[in-house]
Amino acid sequence: MKEKLEQIRQAAVAELAAPEADLEALRIRFLGKKGELTAVLRGMGGLTAEERPVIGALANEVREYIEKAIAEKAEAQKTAALAKKLLDERLDVTMPGKAPAVGKRHPLAQVQKDMEDIFIGMGFSIVEGPEVEYDYYNFQALNIPENHPARDTQDTFYITDNILLRSQTSPVQVRTMEKQRPPIRIISPGRVYRSDAVDASHSPLFHQLEGLVVDKGITMGDLKGTLETFAKTMFGEQTQIRFRPHHFPFTEPSAEVDVSCFVCGGKGCKLCKGEGWIEILGAGMVHPNVLRGCNIDPDEYSGFAFGMGVERITMIKYGIDDMRYLYENDVRFLDQF
Ligand code: PHE
Repeated sequence: MKEKLEQIRQAAVAELAAPEADLEALRIRFLGKKGELTAVLRGMGGLTAEERPVIGALANEVREYIEKAIAEKAEAQKTAALAKKLLDERLDVTMPGKAPAVGKRHPLAQVQKDMEDIFIGMGFSIVEGPEVEYDYYNFQALNIPENHPARDTQDTFYITDNILLRSQTSPVQVRTMEKQRPPIRIISPGRVYRSDAVDASHSPLFHQLEGLVVDKGITMGDLKGTLETFAKTMFGEQTQIRFRPHHFPFTEPSAEVDVSCFVCGGKGCKLCKGEGWIEILGAGMVHPNVLRGCNIDPDEYSGFAFGMGVERITMIKYGIDDMRYLYENDVRFLDQF
């Protein structure tokens, strides 16, 4: 019986050595009512009076031994589980963080917003108009009758003979003057369309921003001051502007407006193609026929208008030499702005 008790002790020690030992199952197996130790104690009836206390004492000792071993193992398992949990859930606060990828405005949208902000700062409000437009607003009301040669440079996409995709944002001038009496001080940004093949400086869809001011006593001096403020804010305080005579059917007199090159300061460089000046927009005093067509008396009121390409301003400002980059949505390009 002594050997049997020792065997039980050894077996318990061996089983408890496994790190994942199932302690409850082992307790039942060794110490339970139907367990191995109980079975030995049951056989004590057959022992002599001398043997009985010796075996009894040994049996108690083995029981206590196993109980203690199980308790120690339980403690060890608890500690190990906690250590594993701490390791698994470890948070190294000194590691660099993962910055979420944040998007940004497309350069065209950003420049359009910059342009809007400049004019809003001068008291203009934003007016939008339809991209699908009547021939009347896109051409006729702007002093461009049917068969006028000015239509050639603004050939567009026709939906019917009368309805087309607007080739300029100027129809918003007319729509505004029809609805609103002077004083008028608006800008109208938006998409325009022309029947042009795609190349480095053309796209059948592009963006313009038009401006219109109508009031009593508006002169070309007001136009110059407004555009100079725009140019200096957009391209830098040292920027100069220059007016060159031009022709637009809806303004008289008309001008093309250049800014002094903000890269070379006028000496001539790659951006200004050696000119020292960069053309940025068209402008002029609203033609009396256009005012009259909107029931505004040209003897009482006068106004100026200007229009520019958002793509063009963006390309000049950032030195982009091919317009197609602006439409390809290649993040390697877009990320640079
Ligand atoms: N709409 C003209 C164009 O697209 C630009 C412009 C606008 C010129 C307003 C003068 C006044 O070419």
